[in-house]
Amino acid sequence: MEKLLVIGCAGQIGSELTIELRNLYGNENVIATDIKQAPDDIVESGPFEILDVLDEKKLGETVDRYKITQIYHLAAILSGNAEKNPVKSWEINMQSLLNVMELAKEKKLSKIFWPSSIAVFGPSTPRVDTPQYTVMEPNTVYGISKLAGERWLEYYFNKYGIDGRGLRYPGLISYKTEAGGGTTDYAVEIFYEAVKNSSYECFLDANTYLPMMFMEDAVKATIDIMEADAEKINIRSSYNVAGISFSPKEIAAEIKKLMPEFSISYKPDFRQAIADSWPQSIDDSHARKDWGLRNTYDLKRMTKVMLEEVSKKLKG
Ligand code: NAD
Ligand code: SER
Repeated sequence: MEKLLVIGCAGQIGSELTIELRNLYGNENVIATDIKQAPDDIVESGPFEILDVLDEKKLGETVDRYKITQIYHLAAILSGNAEKNPVKSWEINMQSLLNVMELAKEKKLSKIFWPSSIAVFGPSTPRVDTPQYTVMEPNTVYGISKLAGERWLEYYFNKYGIDGRGLRYPGLISYKTEAGGGTTDYAVEIFYEAVKNSSYECFLDANTYLPMMFMEDAVKATIDIMEADAEKINIRSSYNVAGISFSPKEIAAEIKKLMPEFSISYKPDFRQAIADSWPQSIDDSHARKDWGLRNTYDLKRMTKVMLEEVSKKLKG
């Protein structure tokens, strides 16, 4: 019987992935944790505990108490917020992963999931159809921590046989929980502002292309890589994954088709330089070939669902 620990369950991904994992493994077998209070549906549907992943002792006790066999480690400081406090962000992003990997070694855990990001790439990386293997010189603290994390994931696999699996998520778009301080957050905020005010001031330029993915596809990709047979996982750092690529101008045009009164203006801030250092689109053929990555949402379908769901949420 697998027993899962989700660290960072209250965030944009954790709030949706935890529920899906509970549907799959049973409510009592998925222990949700975060440094802050989780949404009601997580607290009410199964075990939830406040846990700081940097507290090694409590983390170990939690793993023992619940007889945990797998960890989904989602806690991190994202790109925009990390630039505001680089050293602290490095500590949280890096030390938390080392705590989890050491625990995996000590307690012989069966699998670890840890998300990387398109932020592992930098200004010297080819930006269109960015390959799995290419130049990687990230220039943000978040990107540096994700690239180092990928190296650690592969290191623990090669040296100790720890079955760690990682995805380089692109910008994730969802309506349940607001985005957590990243550069791609504009593509979530735009829907809230469209519904509230019929207008949005974007912190990126009109023609800034970035790779993105709708949350349903991201959760499916996460579960698919974790359920795949170990021999199918040929890449032990993290896999490129992507769904769609678009610019603020293109997503605004799609919103306007459903909401003609919507307008957008542009006021780029410090996140423009981060976006300009990241890929515009991603080659995820390794993930497709090795364990069957498949996306179902394009820009049109995603825009329709986001507008409907954000409207329902804001109108109660
Ligand atoms: P988020 O900021 O929404 O959620 C992170 C959660 O971790 C928060 O609930 C936060 O309270 C928790 N947390 C922070 N510090 C903690 C600590 N010390 N102990 C325990 N919990 C702590 O982030 P997210 O968007 O859900 O991202 C989850 C993971 O996916 C991160 O590793 C992130 O880098 C990665 N990722 C996300 C995206 C995206 O677009 N959302 C893209 C690429 C990669
Ligand atoms: N969405 C994330 C960010 O912008 C990418 O990892 O930080």
